[in-house]
Amino acid sequence: MGATLLKTVNDVRAALDGARASGKRIALVPTMGALHRGHLELMRAARAHAGLDQAFVLVSIFVNPTQFGPAEDYARYPRDLEGDLDKCGAVGVDAVFAPAVDELYPPGEQTRVRVTALAEPLCGEHRPGHFEGVATIVAKLFSIAGPCVAVFGKKDYQQLRVIQRMARDLLFPVTVVGHPTVRDPDGLALSSRNAYLSPEERRRALAIPAALSAACSSHAGGERRASVLLDRARAIIAAAADGVDYVTMADPVSLRVLGPDATLHGPALLAVAVRIGATRLIDNVVLGEDEPPTASPG
Ligand code: PAJ
Repeated sequence: MGATLLKTVNDVRAALDGARASGKRIALVPTMGALHRGHLELMRAARAHAGLDQAFVLVSIFVNPTQFGPAEDYARYPRDLEGDLDKCGAVGVDAVFAPAVDELYPPGEQTRVRVTALAEPLCGEHRPGHFEGVATIVAKLFSIAGPCVAVFGKKDYQQLRVIQRMARDLLFPVTVVGHPTVRDPDGLALSSRNAYLSPEERRRALAIPAALSAACSSHAGGERRASVLLDRARAIIAAAADGVDYVTMADPVSLRVLGPDATLHGPALLAVAVRIGATRLIDNVVLGEDEPPTASPG
């Protein structure tokens, strides 16, 4: 059976009121569509976190204009609602919310949600306004759906932290769950934007998991100097990427950037944002916590 398609806020509220009245717990998975296996894993995890048979899983599919910069790919972002609905149906999603832009941004709207320090480093530096758009749309979705549980991928690590902070600060009664990054067998993190890559670019993109894996293996071998770990990752990425926004180490909770003189005393986030051709790809690993992305580092 396919998932029910809902297009308006009122329809979502009515469907979820009905689900709650019959004892269901709402689990929300926000997406921008062009769904891949990573998204589908989030949907399965959402059901498990909300109590399997007790769960009502709502997936939102909305390419959110306010999180794209003027020179970014909003217009050409991949869209495939029909295919997405089939995939959601196949994993047992209960309903899909795919609204028009005006439905979530009423004419004349002037309200934004801004998270401060967590949203400033890393992608925040390179995509001004991005996390404000993300926090705003996710706050709207939380307000519409009132979920008990919402699941986000660690692939977008900073986004996860920003949303956890926003939910806590705005007192949304939701548990924000982070799900491990889902990768292709060769280590490349799944992303809707991988569809932009030519075969040759996709091969070069493997430098990203290779760089993260190399840092993991140095760390596993006892290396704790941030500069050495960063240099190893940067060298692998520099040989393959067409541009590097950042290769940075940060505290995994505060996202405070670690300087090159830092020595690691606990887990550390190693996050990268690079350009391969015209495509911007991000990935990360938490050294000391995550498995390396590839079996054999390059
Ligand atoms: P989107 O890029 O479609 O991703 C939707 C969710 O899937 C996010 O939580 C993201 O972290 C997760 N995800 C994507 N690729 C993944 C992978 N390879 N492994 C695990 N999880 C993965 O992120 C967004 O949309 C938007 O910013 C959104 C939160 C929907 C707000 O507009």
